[in-house]
Amino acid sequence: MGALNCADGVSASPGSPDSADAVPGARGFEETQAERGAVDALWACVTEFIREAAAAQNRFVLRVAIVAAIGGFLFGYDTGVIGGALLYVKHDLHAESNFDQQAIVASLLVGAVVGAVVAGRLADRLGRRRTIICAGWIYVAGGIGSALAQSVWQLVGARLVLGLAVGAASFVAPMYISEIAPSKIRGGTVTLNQLMLASGIFVAYIADWGLKGVPGNWRWMVGLAAIPGLALAIGMLFVPESPRWLVEKGRHDVARRVLRRIRGTDAVDDELHEIEQAAKHKAGHRALFQPQLRPMLIVGVGLAAFQQLVGINTVIYYAPTILSFTGIGSGSALTQTVFIGLTNIVFTIVAILLLDRVGRRPLLLVGTSGLVVALVALGLFFQLGWLQQHAPEMALGALLLYIASFAVGLGPVFWLMISEIYPLNVRGPAESSAAVVNWTTNFAVSFTFLTLAGALTRAGAFWLYAAIGLLAIGFMLARVPETRGRSLEQIQRRTGATPTST
Ligand code: BGC
Repeated sequence: MGALNCADGVSASPGSPDSADAVPGARGFEETQAERGAVDALWACVTEFIREAAAAQNRFVLRVAIVAAIGGFLFGYDTGVIGGALLYVKHDLHAESNFDQQAIVASLLVGAVVGAVVAGRLADRLGRRRTIICAGWIYVAGGIGSALAQSVWQLVGARLVLGLAVGAASFVAPMYISEIAPSKIRGGTVTLNQLMLASGIFVAYIADWGLKGVPGNWRWMVGLAAIPGLALAIGMLFVPESPRWLVEKGRHDVARRVLRRIRGTDAVDDELHEIEQAAKHKAGHRALFQPQLRPMLIVGVGLAAFQQLVGINTVIYYAPTILSFTGIGSGSALTQTVFIGLTNIVFTIVAILLLDRVGRRPLLLVGTSGLVVALVALGLFFQLGWLQQHAPEMALGALLLYIASFAVGLGPVFWLMISEIYPLNVRGPAESSAAVVNWTTNFAVSFTFLTLAGALTRAGAFWLYAAIGLLAIGFMLARVPETRGRSLEQIQRRTGATPTST
């Protein structure tokens, strides 16, 4: 297998073609060696990333990225907390009808669509940093407003406001992080946002569970989000603006100072020059419709839709319901849901460690294939009565495989890719369009799952998601570029997406 090089080692096919057949009985040994080679190579990737990320010059960038990723935490917390809170809101605010409950849940998603539309422009006009600061204050206002709501409609209004921040932060935080991170660790650093998101969902589950017996508990559940909101709004005051946005606005000297600070060296001329060259192509928002941008717009919008159409949020929102379909009690369904949340976190960490070594495409492809297998298995489970009787643990196993596969592939890679593939001049509106598609599809899928399961049967619903997963794999093979290890400007040149000046 040759010398152990992280990226080569992982992509090398296990077992050399001729040697095992040449020596009878040697295949087992060869395979063991090959497997060990692959494991060692993966391990080499992990340690390489940790070494690079922990290097003195990158520590500042990591700290800044963690502050911005609080935006991801709030995205996860605010979307995750409502499931548990709703149980108590129902009685307190007399939200007994399905319509009221759906309005409470859906208002955040509707707000997120609007937030994603507006934030693209804001990120270009005000800058990435100030847009995230605004999102932080909106999180605070929306959190306090939700906690104080006295009627269903006040709560719906407060969650609409919260949604604005969720939609904005969902893509401006990764955009900002990708613009400050060095290309060698950009994948992992941007994915810190997805890690915080997965942690936000998990903390929301824990908050829902931990506040069970507390009087006025739902107000605490939704109101607690104001604290990280405040941390985001204040924390972002102390981080620098994106050097790429500064160059775009003609503030070259400030950009140079920021680059020196975040790279920990005075030797930033080459990087600055590269950014200046890319920023030269002044293009208005109409450039979004120029033909050379179309392939990358299709990649962003396609990944946005597929990320949701494989059914991720039916698992996030309905995991306890899906598990209780299997016949287990609601108590164990909730406990098992905690395992799902933990698996999401653990495999997002795996993605962080591997994305910059193995690459985005392999993780997307492996992750989406795993997810298809899990969906087929879930369908079989619900279709075949004897499986439900003799192997009830299969449902949890399939859900865990599903979430692990999503967490290494489509989950992080979609948000990462859209922060990488668009040219500087149109990055705001282009990322915003992908985010809008993502939130709209999220809304559509979440609100059709129970109806779909009724119309197609549960098995049918999961098989439909599996078929969409297969289409997604075809789309990835045909359209999605590899962006590992290249600067944002090199990616822009390679994809040919530079808009002509308008
Ligand atoms: C998706 C969310 C999803 C979350 C789960 C994100 O990448 O955009 O819709 O709830 O992952 O971890």
